[in-house]
Amino acid sequence: MTRIAIIVGSKGRGSNMLALIEACESKAIDAEVVVVISPRHETLAVSRAIEKGVEVVVLNPDDVHFSTELLHVLEKHAVDLVCLAGYMRLLPKEVTDSFKGRILNIHPALLPKYGGKGMYGLKVHESVIAAGEKESGCSVHYVTEQYDEGEILLQMRCVVKPEDTPETLAQRVLALEHECYVEAVRKWIALRSHSGRKAPS
Ligand code: GRF
Repeated sequence: MTRIAIIVGSKGRGSNMLALIEACESKAIDAEVVVVISPRHETLAVSRAIEKGVEVVVLNPDDVHFSTELLHVLEKHAVDLVCLAGYMRLLPKEVTDSFKGRILNIHPALLPKYGGKGMYGLKVHESVIAAGEKESGCSVHYVTEQYDEGEILLQMRCVVKPEDTPETLAQRVLALEHECYVEAVRKWIALRSHSGRKAPS
């Protein structure tokens, strides 16, 4: 069984986290979320994780010991796969190196478009609408030292309606994200077992 750590963000709504926890609970994927890592205590994601009985560790990304502590938590929980879900910052190089091919992120657009530094939240959907795109979607990609640049593992698409606002588009994409992240983790597990390697890259 694949052991997953989820890193949530400081805004920490946690809906993708919840989708992954519930997919594990229902055995839709052969995995278990063994720890949730959050930059802050008081977020919706943290209360949702606690309600689900998942251990939460709070680590401050600005702390000088952040990468050592993060690696320690991941090793202590024998984590196979790290899923970023709402974590907006870059991970330290020590972490991306140690977990190469084993860290995924979800982005609310069809990368490589509408990604990169500063491209998050409603800004993404505003840009998609402003560009007159007819479709949008979400991307699950491997995490590297750069924003949104790792190889894409899975994308799902949805329409952009003429009457869409950034908010309505965000809602449609978010529903798709939950499905896409679960499917991407399933794919990651299958790739890993087919390749017989711990870390597809
Ligand atoms: C999602 O839109 C995800 O694509 C982005 O951050 C948001 C997190 O939402 N990386 P939630 O906390 O999972 O609800």
